[in-house]
Amino acid sequence: MSTFKAPKGTYDLLPPDSAKYLAVREAIAAPLRNSGYGYIETPGFENVELFARGVGESTDIVTKEMYVFETKGGDRLALRPETTAPVLRAVLEANLHKAGLPVKVWYSGSQYRYERPQKGRYRHFSQVGAEAIGAEDPALDAELIILADQSYRALGLQNFRILLNSLGDQECRPVYRAALQDFLRGLDLDEETLRRAEINPLRVLDDKRPDVQKQLTDAPLLRDYLCDACKAYHEEVRELITAAGVVFEDDPKLVRGLDYYTRTTFEFVHDGLGSQSAVGGGGRYDGLSEMIGGPALPSVGWALGVDRTVLALEAEGIELDIPSTTSVFAVPLGEEARRILFAKVTELRKNGVAADFSYGGKGLKAAMKGANRSGARYALILGERDLAEGVVQLKDMESGEQTAIGVNEIVAELESRLG
Ligand code: HAM
Repeated sequence: MSTFKAPKGTYDLLPPDSAKYLAVREAIAAPLRNSGYGYIETPGFENVELFARGVGESTDIVTKEMYVFETKGGDRLALRPETTAPVLRAVLEANLHKAGLPVKVWYSGSQYRYERPQKGRYRHFSQVGAEAIGAEDPALDAELIILADQSYRALGLQNFRILLNSLGDQECRPVYRAALQDFLRGLDLDEETLRRAEINPLRVLDDKRPDVQKQLTDAPLLRDYLCDACKAYHEEVRELITAAGVVFEDDPKLVRGLDYYTRTTFEFVHDGLGSQSAVGGGGRYDGLSEMIGGPALPSVGWALGVDRTVLALEAEGIELDIPSTTSVFAVPLGEEARRILFAKVTELRKNGVAADFSYGGKGLKAAMKGANRSGARYALILGERDLAEGVVQLKDMESGEQTAIGVNEIVAELESRLG
């Protein structure tokens, strides 16, 4: 061990487990690529104000969880705690929204939140996300929910649920907000919660403490305050995803930890994960563009947590079918054999055969251990006697069967065997 450890709340992805993370990212990305979403990548840090304005001044993310720093040049930056605001910033900056709407993009990458670490909650984690920017169309909300469902199904997950709600718009939410505030003022709540009720009353609905939850049983629900336009919009989203065979639950108390949401909001929760059960979440954010100085661009998106999705797979005992990456492992015995086999390995790789090599001048026994560990289907062993005869031993690692083939036949023989 070195003097250093991974910082608190972080962990390293190491082979062979890291292959699972790649497979999860790929499984989430595949349906998006297949549905008109283009890949976008933004920096790991942004002007801190982007998040303050976008995610919301009073959210936990902005008040407590951001990694904020000042550069030598005097810029105040934050490691991104989420990527929706950055994506919208990038789209506006590049004027992508002027070339046709909606702009549909997906991303994959690290997020940073200074949270209290526990299982499923880390300070560095990764998301795959999708944003559809600049169209108000319930079919777009439905598309995103259907695609997330599809990627989880493709991974074999079953014990997840989709919680769906509508948070209304700038017309009906203020009316509801006032009604909820009235209700909350009449409750027996501590100072901090009362303060929160004044600044961000919807967040109080998300309070996990049983004594608070008990008092909230009769809280007014946004559902009963939705204006006609929001009601019709939500009904249409529900119908479209139902028609697609996606099962969901209406959760009138679902609120999200970010302030930019309007209308459709949803969360993917997994029942095998304990308290950190949200594996993904998202919704509509019709006002975010204006909040960060852009034109009106009604949009919708989600982000799925890669770390928690991997935990969900483990909770369900799902082993992903990850094929061994190495097909052929070459074992040279001696100097000359090393030069010849190394050239063959290079040639195999050029021909698209995944090949690895025993480095470090190991003896046969240690080298074969490496061959086993690599998961390769075939080993190529070149000893002194083989060398003299111009052959190499081709060993089938599954059957144990070994045959001598000409050194010049290696590439053709392996190509045909690996088909
Ligand atoms: P979020 O709900 O904050 O939404 O995060 C989405 C997912 O990221 C969560 O469901 C969870 O799986 C994962 N996640 C969040 N925090 C942590 C953590 N500390 N450790 C491990 N995993 C975590 C957003 O970030 C929005 N930007 C989603 C969105 C996109 N809305 C519209 N477009």
